[in-house]
Amino acid sequence: MQGAKPMTPILQSTLLFIFVCSVCAQSLPPSKPDGFVYGTHLIDRDSILIEAFLDPVCPDSRDAWPPLKQVLEHYGSRVRLVVHLLPLPYHDHAFVSSRAIHIVNNLNSSATFKMLEWFFKHQEKFYNAQTRNLSRNFVVNEIVKSAAKVLGRSYYGAVESGFNDRKTDLKTRVSFKFSALRGVYGTPTFFINGFVLPDAGNSVDFSGWKTILDQLIDKKRPKEENLHFFLDLVAWEFGFVLERVKLFLLFDIVVKFSDM
Ligand SMILES: *[C@@H]1O[C@H](CO)[C@@H](O)[C@H](O)[C@H]1NC(C)=O
Ligand SMILES: *[C@@H]1O[C@H](CO)[C@@H](O)[C@H](O)[C@H]1NC(C)=O
Repeated sequence: MQGAKPMTPILQSTLLFIFVCSVCAQSLPPSKPDGFVYGTHLIDRDSILIEAFLDPVCPDSRDAWPPLKQVLEHYGSRVRLVVHLLPLPYHDHAFVSSRAIHIVNNLNSSATFKMLEWFFKHQEKFYNAQTRNLSRNFVVNEIVKSAAKVLGRSYYGAVESGFNDRKTDLKTRVSFKFSALRGVYGTPTFFINGFVLPDAGNSVDFSGWKTILDQLIDKKRPKEENLHFFLDLVAWEFGFVLERVKLFLLFDIVVKFSDM
């Protein structure tokens, strides 16, 4: 009778391979950069990049959203926005809410911001005090129902199974890790072209954004462009004077002919 067989080298390396792969399945970096790109307009590589770190159940994130949308409307392709989700640990349902947005994004990426806006509109239902007596299951079911409302009833099953899919959990963790990596610990936090705006945790109103962005857009306009603008203006004035001279000459000719 043989005792327990010692592990063969092949078995050992197979086990090692399986172990390494199960680690790499959740390893970083992720296969796609974190963040949801807002809007569908063509991306201008020279545009100003705003990154917003938001928590779907944070009241300050909610308040920051309308002026941010106004900025995107006002500046068009000169500005682009990427939203990163940062589920804050002291908001009990921030993680499942953020996960719901990842699930919706997987199912129909055009509905991502609709889902975020749904949370901003109804987030009070998910505050800590309001959900003190509710089970986690109950809250997740509420969120599934709501996501199915945003996506369309036929998506109910898909959203529900999204919450059982480990990939959506990992994606939400990546969002959290990405925020931690960038040193973000409160929402809303904004970065412009990679640099953090002071005053994290407070929403910025439209005039605040305008002050910041107008300066940057002004700085970016090359000196030559200003010169061209000046020359165009001169040319336009000159053209105007020429037209007047032509009119006078014409008038002169007409007067001379009528005298004859
Ligand atoms: C995806 O979402 C957008 C925006 O809500 C909607 O117009 C579109 O019909 C949806 N597409 C599908 C396949 O559900
Ligand atoms: C939670 O339950 C306690 C005890 O039954 C009750 O006093 C409290 O009002 C409940 N809170 C909410 C938000 O329903």
